Amino acid sequence: MVNIVINGKSIEVPSDITILEAARIAKIEVPHLCYLKDINEIGACRLCVVEVEGEDRLIPACENKVREGMVIKTNSPKVRNAVRNNLELILSKHKAECTSCVRSGNCQLQDLANDYNLTCEYRDKDDNEKRLEKWNSEFPIIRDAQKCVQCMRCVSVCDKVQGMHVWDLVGTGSHSHIGVTGNRLIEFADCTECGQCITHCPVGALTERDDTKKVMKALADPEVVTVVQIAPAIRSGYAESLGIDPSVATVARLAGALKMMGFDYVFDTSFTADLTIMEEGSELIRRLQAGDLKKYPMFTSCCPGWIRFIESQYPELVPQLSSAKSPQQMFGALIKSYFAEKNGIDPKKIVSVSIMPCTAKKGEAELPEMKGESGAPDVDVVLTTRELMRMFSSERVDLNDIEEVPFDSLFGEYTGAGVIFGTTGGVMEAALRSGYYLVTGKNPDVDAFSDVRAVSFDDAGVSFKDVSESGKANWREATFDLAGTPLRVAVTSGLVNTRKLIDAILAGKVSYDFVEIMACPGGCAGGGGQPIHCDDVERGMTRGAVLRDIDASSAVRFSHENTDVQKLYQDWLGTPGSEIAEKYLHREY
Ligand code: SF4
Ligand code: SF4
Ligand code: SF4
Ligand code: FES
Repeated sequence: MVNIVINGKSIEVPSDITILEAARIAKIEVPHLCYLKDINEIGACRLCVVEVEGEDRLIPACENKVREGMVIKTNSPKVRNAVRNNLELILSKHKAECTSCVRSGNCQLQDLANDYNLTCEYRDKDDNEKRLEKWNSEFPIIRDAQKCVQCMRCVSVCDKVQGMHVWDLVGTGSHSHIGVTGNRLIEFADCTECGQCITHCPVGALTERDDTKKVMKALADPEVVTVVQIAPAIRSGYAESLGIDPSVATVARLAGALKMMGFDYVFDTSFTADLTIMEEGSELIRRLQAGDLKKYPMFTSCCPGWIRFIESQYPELVPQLSSAKSPQQMFGALIKSYFAEKNGIDPKKIVSVSIMPCTAKKGEAELPEMKGESGAPDVDVVLTTRELMRMFSSERVDLNDIEEVPFDSLFGEYTGAGVIFGTTGGVMEAALRSGYYLVTGKNPDVDAFSDVRAVSFDDAGVSFKDVSESGKANWREATFDLAGTPLRVAVTSGLVNTRKLIDAILAGKVSYDFVEIMACPGGCAGGGGQPIHCDDVERGMTRGAVLRDIDASSAVRFSHENTDVQKLYQDWLGTPGSEIAEKYLHREY
C-alpha cells in the first residue's frame, strides 16, 4: 500500500494500481476515452492527464502507477485546459451526428463534450475523408471511419480477447487511421462477426447493420404473417438501457411488447435450445458409441462466431462440429415448415424475425445452408438486442404499461436448461442433463454437472486478461460418469481462449469427448449485440447469473421434459436424428 494525496484528499491505496484506479477509489472521476482495463492501456487519447507535484509535464493517469507520497491534481486549471484542448482536437476530426447516431445517449465522447460544455465542431472533414475506406454495407459489422477517434480499443479487443487481428493502425503519417489489417476488405479478413469490437467502441464508429426498417415494413404489411423468436440471453439484459425495474423486465412482458408492436406470433428460442439438446445430445451418444470421438472431441455448433472461427482457423476440425443447427436456425426451419402447415399459412407469406444478443447471427441466417425448400431464408431478419431497444424507443413502447403474455402455442414451453444456453457452460450442462437421461433412462441430479458452471470471468477461464499467465487454464474441464463411461468435457468462451484450448487438443496435451465453445466472453449474455454502457463494466457474467437464477427457479429443468418438444417428436419428427429431423434440424459444413 502507498499513501497519496489526490485533490487534497489523503488516501492509502494498493501500490500496483494506476492513478486512474486510485482516483476511482477516492471517488474522483478522471475523464478517459481510450482506456479499457487489462485490454487497452496505451495512453492514446490524453484525456486522463493529471498534474503530479514535482513533475513539469502532465501525465496520463491511465498509464502511470501511484507512488508513495504522490500529490495529484485531477482538476487544476492546467489540467482542465489540457483536457479541453485534447477533447477539442478529437471532436474536430469526429463526424458528430448526435441527432441520428445510434450511440447517441450512450457515447463516451458525447458525454465528455457535454461535461466540458463543448459544441461539436467537425473541422477536419476534408482531411478525414481521405481516410475513408470502402465498406460493404451488407456486412453485419458496419464501420464509419469518420466517427473513429483512433482510441485503438477495437484493435486491442480483436487482438487480445478474440485473437483475430482484424483491425490495425494502417497508412502512414497524417493519413494513418484504424482500418482492416493488410488493407483487406472486411469480408475477406476472417472476421468472426462476433461484434466484440462494437461493444467496446466508445463512440458510433462501429455498429451492427441496422435491419429494423425491414421489420417495420413487414409489420406494416397486412399480407405478411410476422413471427418472432427471442433468444434466451435477451431476458438477461434487455432492460438495462430502459431504466425500468428488473422485476418488470420479464420475458413475458417482452413477448407482450412484441405483440403490441404487431407481431402475429411470438416464441422463445429457449424452446429450440431444448430441441437442440435432444438432437445434439443424441448425436453425442451416437458418435461416442461409434468411436468417432477417440481422437478429437465433438464440438458444440450453436455459436456462429465460433463456426466462422473454426472454418477459417482450423478447417481440419470442422467434421468434429455437431451437425445440429443453432437454436435460431432450428426455429426458423420449424416456422416455415411444421408451423406453417399446422396453421394453414403459406410459408412465402411469413416473415420470420429473431431477436438475438449477437451480430454473427445476422450472417448465419444468410448462409445458403439456412434456406428452406422455397429458396427463401428460414430466418428473414435478425435484430440485435440494441436494435430491438431502438424500435421500442421509436415506437414509444413503455414496458411499464405492457401486460405480460404467454408465448404462442405449439412451441410455448421452455425449460431452465434451454434458458442457460445464453451463458458459458450452459449448453454443456443442459446437454449432460439430457445425455444422462438418454443413456440411462433416468434423470440425474439436476445439479450433477455444476462443475462446468462458472461464476466469474476468471473462474470461467475466461478473462479479459490472459489468465494462463497466472498458471490457470483458459478453459474449464470436468469428467462425469455417464452410466459407467467417463465423459471428459471442456468449456470455454472468447476466441483467444478457444485457440489455446484447440492448440492443446491438437498437441495431445489434453483430451476430451465433448467441448462447448462460445465466441463471446461469458457466452451470449456478453454477446456483441447486447446493450452497451459508458461505464465499461463487462456484464457477461452478471447477465449469465440472471439466466442461472431463472434455471434454478424453473419448474422444468430438463430439455427432454419439455412437453411441447415431446409433442413435436410424437407428431412430426419421430426420434432425434430421424430422417425428417436431419432434413430440418441439421446442416452440412
Ligand atoms: S473504431 Fe471505435 S474502437 Fe476502433 S479505434 Fe475507432 S473509435 Fe476506437
Ligand atoms: S467482429 Fe469480432 S472478429 Fe470481427 S473485427 Fe470485431 S472483434 Fe474482431
Ligand atoms: S457467443 Fe453468442 S452472441 Fe457471441 S457470437 Fe456466439 S452466438 Fe453470437
Ligand atoms: S484514457 Fe488515458 S490516455 Fe486515453
